[in-house]
Amino acid sequence: MEVHHLHFDSIDSTNSYAKKHAHEFDSQKLTCIFADEQTHGRGRFSRTWLSKKGNLTYSLFLPTALLPDSPSNLAQMSAMAALEVLHTKGIELSIKWPNDLVTKGKKLGGILVEMTEQGAVIGIGINVNAPIEADQPTISLLEISGKEWDIEELHNSITLQFQKELACGFQKERYESVLAFLGQPVQIREADHTYDGIIEGVTKQGHLELKRKDGSITVLRTGEIQQLRSK
Ligand code: BTN
Repeated sequence: MEVHHLHFDSIDSTNSYAKKHAHEFDSQKLTCIFADEQTHGRGRFSRTWLSKKGNLTYSLFLPTALLPDSPSNLAQMSAMAALEVLHTKGIELSIKWPNDLVTKGKKLGGILVEMTEQGAVIGIGINVNAPIEADQPTISLLEISGKEWDIEELHNSITLQFQKELACGFQKERYESVLAFLGQPVQIREADHTYDGIIEGVTKQGHLELKRKDGSITVLRTGEIQQLRSK
């Protein structure tokens, strides 16, 4: 797949840029928008994503022509791409459904997928060399490994792996093998609802299967794992 690269020293948000300029991008190529820092980085659920220099901050624009049949699991596939690359570099991670990269209960990175008329914008943020202040426990690759990382190399490797994930399609069993809290009781918040249950796995579409107290399975397309009642 051909990739067109754009690089910004500083930008409000690579996802916002991609959404605004989607109609200008090549409709047959992957466009990669990379920034050294973001001034208004965004996370899921309209949260702020702090993106100082020294961390990996970029968005991939995947035009409609290149979208998989079921684009609902693009976020999960992107998380798998990042996890796979970091795994080959000796970093063990889990995925907190749907797409948070976590280790030891701390967040290393996250993904924000947004759809436009022209295609999908997949924003990837990973804490690499800079300390992060956030309202939840976070960790960086520097803290995990004790060494500085080459952000450009990491970005290229993840983009390449993402293309491989796209070619293979979403692999449910592989994703479940790295899913955090599998078989454990959790509480999921989705909009105004909370759901208690045990994580059974995911569907072929990457939706979460939650086993409820009465034995029924609730399938959730989105939501956030809020609170763990036991380990
Ligand atoms: C999350 O965990 O809530 C998702 C975080 C996604 C952050 C990335 S950084 C690059 C891209 N641009 C943004 O404004 N957000 C995403």
